[in-house]
Amino acid sequence: MSLYKPKQGKRYRPATEAVRAGQLRGSEQEHSEPIYATSSFVFDNAAQAAARFSYTEEGNVYSRFTNPTVRAFEQRLAALEGAPACVATASGMSALLSICLSGLIAGDHVVASRSIFGASRMLLNQTLARFSIDVSFVDLTDLDQWRSALSPKTRMVFFETPTNPLTEVGDIAAISDIAHAYNADIKVVVDNCFCTPVLQRPLELGADVVMHSATKYIDGQGRCVGGAVVGDEEFVDEQVFSFMRTAGPGMSPFNAWVFLKGLETMALRVNQASDNAQLLAEWLQQQSAVKQVYFPGLSDHPQYQLARQQQSKPGAVLAFEVEGGQDAAWSLIDKTELLSITANLGDTRTTITHPYTTTHARWSDAEKAEVGITPNLVRIAVGLEDPQDVIEDLHLQ
Ligand SMILES: Cc1ncc(COP(=O)(O)O)c(C=O)c1O
Repeated sequence: MSLYKPKQGKRYRPATEAVRAGQLRGSEQEHSEPIYATSSFVFDNAAQAAARFSYTEEGNVYSRFTNPTVRAFEQRLAALEGAPACVATASGMSALLSICLSGLIAGDHVVASRSIFGASRMLLNQTLARFSIDVSFVDLTDLDQWRSALSPKTRMVFFETPTNPLTEVGDIAAISDIAHAYNADIKVVVDNCFCTPVLQRPLELGADVVMHSATKYIDGQGRCVGGAVVGDEEFVDEQVFSFMRTAGPGMSPFNAWVFLKGLETMALRVNQASDNAQLLAEWLQQQSAVKQVYFPGLSDHPQYQLARQQQSKPGAVLAFEVEGGQDAAWSLIDKTELLSITANLGDTRTTITHPYTTTHARWSDAEKAEVGITPNLVRIAVGLEDPQDVIEDLHLQ
């Protein structure tokens, strides 16, 4: 079994890394990577077992620690994010949990954007609170709020950009500079799920750690749940890996294989879905039954210029408010025939969601009102169908 190693010092362009990095080849010299469906690995003798367990000899021991198929996925994603290290996790949420539990201790403080995925907010303000870790939530786009929320106890800054579902865009370079100028040891963590490294590379803009829900565009076809933590060797390979190996929220070899294959076509899918979303957003803006469209590719989006600098395309998720209340939003959703009514996103198939009663249902009314998740808000994650068919499926009159 061998992992593909580029010629000494050679770095390839992202399109090449997407299909080559981490390539794995077994004794059969197969071209497509094998799935190592095994829980443990066999040693030649007792001395080798001892050497592997004590890390004096490199090699696999047990799939909760490392597995070749999972390793291949980690290497490919690390190459795409431009990072030296990656650890794959069982879900996007276990990626965030692993970052928090390996980087924080009781008494620490986190500053997070108030506009984040529903479960991420719950994990920060409910789960972490049980371990005496304090969280302050700030407006993603207000740099003064980030500045004034930092304290000597702050160890982590967390945000996603663009946000789910309102597509607010946070200034990765500016927020990273503010945090690091205050204390160079603060870890700036960015959830890069909506853009993927195809559209945005947060580590190049100053962030320390990227987390992913691989469930979304990395799979891209709605098959598996998974996640990843990407960053430097000291944090990811030492701290996060050591937590993962002990606590066990790792990725299965089968899922890693699906994600590995997903990475190969991710750029084609993400770029096309983003172009389709642009057409849909512009059409929605013309509809009298639509009050407001949220999409970073529209020139009236408050962070339109920032999105153009920071991302190569706006992404494929948009949200809009319909005239009326929850009834109007539900009626629009229920009249669709082609679109899938589901909470997932990043699929080849366009999905339609009512965030107020699904992805953000566990937030209090006050929390929802604070970030603008209203009963008449609809989210669409645009896929790869012909955009005209998606338009015809939305009966907005
Ligand atoms: C932005 C964002 N981050 C994290 C997650 C959590 O990922 P997972 O469902 O893979 O745990 C999601 C899921 O929808 C998400 O949209």
